[in-house]
Amino acid sequence: MVESKFVIRGGIPLRGRVRVGGAKNSVLKLMAASLLTPEECVIHNAPRIADVEIMSEVLRHLGAGVEREGDSLRIRAGDFAFREAPYHLVRRMRASIVVLGPLVARWGEASVAIPGGCNIGSRKIDMHLKGLAEMGAEITTEHGYVRARATKLKAANILLDFPSVGATENLVMAAVGAEGTTRIENAAREPEIQDLISFLVSMGAHIEGSGTPVVEVTGPTPLHGVEHTAVGDRIEAGTLAVAAAVTGGDVVIEGADPLHLGMPLEKLRDAGVVAENADGGIRVKGEGDYRSVDLATLPYPGFPTDLQPQMMVLLSLAEGISVVTENVFESRFMFVDELNRMGCDISIEGHHAIVKGVGRLSGAEVSAPDLRAGAALVLAGLAAEGETHVLDIHHVDRGYERLEEKLSALGADIRREEAD
Ligand code: UD1
Repeated sequence: MVESKFVIRGGIPLRGRVRVGGAKNSVLKLMAASLLTPEECVIHNAPRIADVEIMSEVLRHLGAGVEREGDSLRIRAGDFAFREAPYHLVRRMRASIVVLGPLVARWGEASVAIPGGCNIGSRKIDMHLKGLAEMGAEITTEHGYVRARATKLKAANILLDFPSVGATENLVMAAVGAEGTTRIENAAREPEIQDLISFLVSMGAHIEGSGTPVVEVTGPTPLHGVEHTAVGDRIEAGTLAVAAAVTGGDVVIEGADPLHLGMPLEKLRDAGVVAENADGGIRVKGEGDYRSVDLATLPYPGFPTDLQPQMMVLLSLAEGISVVTENVFESRFMFVDELNRMGCDISIEGHHAIVKGVGRLSGAEVSAPDLRAGAALVLAGLAAEGETHVLDIHHVDRGYERLEEKLSALGADIRREEAD
């Protein structure tokens, strides 16, 4: 595969309207949920991003048919030959672990390669496994694979140590196949989980408490095919909002629910950015003269960890010192050295980042260490003086559809080139 890079000439205020696609973190789970029925499921608003391609490969490997028609995916999971998600796919996308719950719920057994760590933290799956065991699954790990078996899943009272997004999703999907009412306490409440629950309810599942910390699933019910439009991507929207702010632009972002961006928009406003519901979208206007702001990442509705790297770019342009606390992933500051190469002054103290406002950034050659940090480096390039080359952009392509085309349409000078 030829590696590409973004070449960005910074300093141009972004202007115009832009539309975000369906949420990556929802569509991947809706795809996994489609395994629960032999009937066809149609998912509209499915972005053309690498992670959706990998999940399609996972489902095909399991024996399901996956076809794309425009922005829609048609998935049919008939009778499988295989119930194993192999390492060569899982290592490319850790979210593949969410096929575990639906596979066990429908076929009583599954084997999934254990996802390794990644550039933002160790990413354990102990809560997924403990919950499945509480539902009566026998869990074994061998040769780098986790295997779950249950002739019949039974309802359980599950208390999560932390509102894990993936564990909540895996356990809700397993619970639709369990006998009785499963109660999941300290459940995650992200809009993408609410989207998954509404998908499952349309399939015929009985689920109460969507969007609250206590979710109750009563099963099993016969599940049928559905047609569903995925929720808009709040992280893509937030990324574009910060892009507008750091370039001193004026952009209307469509396709995401402003209510899903409550905390990020609040923090943008605290920093002095104009962010309001207007003209059928979220209007973000940046006029410079930003103020420092402290923020702490937390499960929804707290500040999303997936927007933390992008916010660091804005805070670097603000007057004063901001403290950013990362509470969700242990190593999510690894990109800071790359930002510092562009003139930022960020130092790390444990899980706090001390961001000194520097006023201006200067273009440089930098490498994207992961998806959201890669997006942050693109934003830094848009704001910086001179030319920035962002390498390793396959990370960015995992979660952003045609990012350079969307930014160019807003006036940015950004192009994709083959890396040397
Ligand atoms: C999902 C999102 C990711 C987002 C994250 C937090 C997808 C595909 N990815 O990831 O973009 O940044 O939510 O909003 O939806 N943990 C454990 N044990 C477990 C499960 C999790 O210790 O069994 C820890 C993780 O290591 C991490 C924290 O809990 O430190 C949060 O992880 P989790 O909410 O599960 O994130 P993901 O579902 O992996």
